[in-house]
Amino acid sequence: MDSEIYQDFILEIYKNPFNYGKLDKPTLQAGSHNPLCGDNIEMFINTKENKISEIKFSGKGCAISQVSASLLTEHLKGMEISEAKSLSQKDILNLIKVDLSKNPSRLKCALLSLEVLKKAISKYSS
Ligand code: FES
Repeated sequence: MDSEIYQDFILEIYKNPFNYGKLDKPTLQAGSHNPLCGDNIEMFINTKENKISEIKFSGKGCAISQVSASLLTEHLKGMEISEAKSLSQKDILNLIKVDLSKNPSRLKCALLSLEVLKKAISKYSS
């Protein structure tokens, strides 16, 4: 295990992820997997007045992919859908606070949750 990447806080969240689970009949739902490893993430979102009112994720995968989903879902609570649509790669990296610039395959892990989010909210029309 690469200790530079797996900082203590990453491991802690991996063990006890925020927002892990599913929502019954969510307004928006999407999933995707990383074709390189098969790891997957599914996201469930309820909306209210163009904002994300509830959000959960489920999936199986490496610490970076699951922790990024956990931190992203936490960050999204109460956010306007339009703001969520504009989240970038840089925003995700700021959330996980891990430098992945020299590790492109790990970057893919970190960005899986963003891909799923974009897929889910692309179906949203206010
Ligand atoms: Fe599969 Fe990270 S190794 S998403």
